[in-house]
Formats: sequence, structure tokens, C-alpha cells
Amino acid sequence: MSETQQQREWAPIHGLPYRSVPYRPERMPEAESRETAARLRTRMDERRTVRQFSPDPVPEQVIRDAIACAATAPSGAHQQPWTFVLVKDPEVRRRIREAAEHEERVSYGGRLGEEWLAALRPLGTDEVKAHLTDAPALIVVFQQRHWLGDDGAKHKHYYVDESVGIAVGMLLSALHLSGLAALIHTPSPMRFLSEVLGRPANEKAFAVIPVGYPAPDCRVPDLVRKSLDQVLVEV
Ligand SMILES: Cc1cc2nc3c(=O)[nH]c(=O)nc-3n(C[C@H](O)[C@H](O)[C@H](O)COP(=O)(O)O)c2cc1C
Repeated sequence: MSETQQQREWAPIHGLPYRSVPYRPERMPEAESRETAARLRTRMDERRTVRQFSPDPVPEQVIRDAIACAATAPSGAHQQPWTFVLVKDPEVRRRIREAAEHEERVSYGGRLGEEWLAALRPLGTDEVKAHLTDAPALIVVFQQRHWLGDDGAKHKHYYVDESVGIAVGMLLSALHLSGLAALIHTPSPMRFLSEVLGRPANEKAFAVIPVGYPAPDCRVPDLVRKSLDQVLVEV
């Protein structure tokens, strides 16, 4: 972390221009760049969503560092519209599981509709969410839909879905590259998360991310990812 980052605290500067500062990162030699990209491609392809967790504890600082990585994400107008709640307390995880399973029973019971249920069927997921209590930690991500000025005025945040989605992608990458497994879980609807965690009205739950090590008998669906040819169009 640079000296400047350590010393300066973020504060909203709504309506004011930023001072501009030089940005001259050292250019990576091409060979190193190629090697880094190829290695990263392989490492990222090894990431899998895990749904069966070991209760073994994980180094908490690794999770905090991953959250700090996520918080470096770009965001619309640099509004950083996210809050990450790290839940370790077993009783709070139990309450989250109970409420999530309540919603999921209704969802899998038909609320999702046949098309959505058909899309989920290949994964074999159901309303039992043991990962919420098995994993030693949950990161509950909230979107801040707006912020309140000192005078109580409501200011809209822009591109909140995109910004938080990018931050969560960076979080999942950081956790994976640091040796931890995760699942992005989106029990729908997620209002109960604000209630259980006592979050303010400007925040809306985005996802619950159990984090830990895979259980010794963990299995994952043998899914196939699209090839580069199928996702890349070069013009
Ligand atoms: C926005 C989003 C929501 C998801 N919600 C759930 C969920 O509620 N439950 C679940 O088991 N998996 C969920 N997943 C995980 C996907 O099913 C998983 O990423 C996909 O099957 C591909 O598997 P992989 O992550 O191992 O590549 C979600 C993924 C994303 C990106």
C-alpha cells in the first residue's frame, strides 16, 4: 500500500473535481506479461463454486485482504456503492440459514417458475443450504442504492449493479487465488439479510458468499465452460 493510500481517508467530494496526480506504473516486460496472463488463465480456470464446505477455520486476514481487493474495484462515478458484512458468529449464520431455507423452500416449491427450475436442475441444488452453517465465514454483500449527505439529502448512486458485480467478481478471484473456496448464493428474495444483519435502509442485499475450504468429500458438477472461440469476437 502506498504512503498516500495509508494516510488519506475517503470522504465524499460530491460535485467537486479531483486533483489529478501522475500515474506511471512500471511497464511489465512482454515476456513476463505473457507468462503472467497464461498462468492466471490456468489458475482462474481451476476455480469452482463449492457447495460442500469443511467447518475448518480459515485465516481471517486472508478474507479481509480479499475484501480489500474487492473494494479496489472500479465503480460508477467512484461511488464505491458496496458494504461487505463478514459473518463469523455461528448463531447469526444459523439464523441466516433458517431464513434462507424458508425462502428457498417456497422458491423451489414453485415460486421460481418451471423455466428457472429447469435451468437449475442440472446443478442439483435444492432448498437445503448447509453451506450457510458449515462454512466458517459468510461474506454478505450489500449494494448501497444511494447515500445520505450530512444534511440528510439523498444522493443517487449510479451503475450500482454493475459496480457491485465487478467488485464481487474481484472478491471471488481474490479468494480463489488465495487458496479459499466460495459460493455465490442468491436466495431470493434477500430482504431477510438486512433484517438479520441490521443494515440501513439504503442498502440492499446482493449475495451471500460462504467462504472456507471444500469438505473432504466435496463434489462439483462436471460442467463445461465455453471456449474462447465461443465468447470472443475480434474485430
Ligand atoms: C449471480 C450469481 C448467482 C448465483 N446464485 C447461486 C445460488 O443461489 N445458489 C447456488 O448454489 N449457486 C449460485 N451461483 C453459482 C452458479 O451456479 C455457478 O457459478 C455456475 O454453476 C458455474 O459454476 P462454477 O462457478 O463452478 O464455474 C450463482 C452464480 C452467480 C454468478
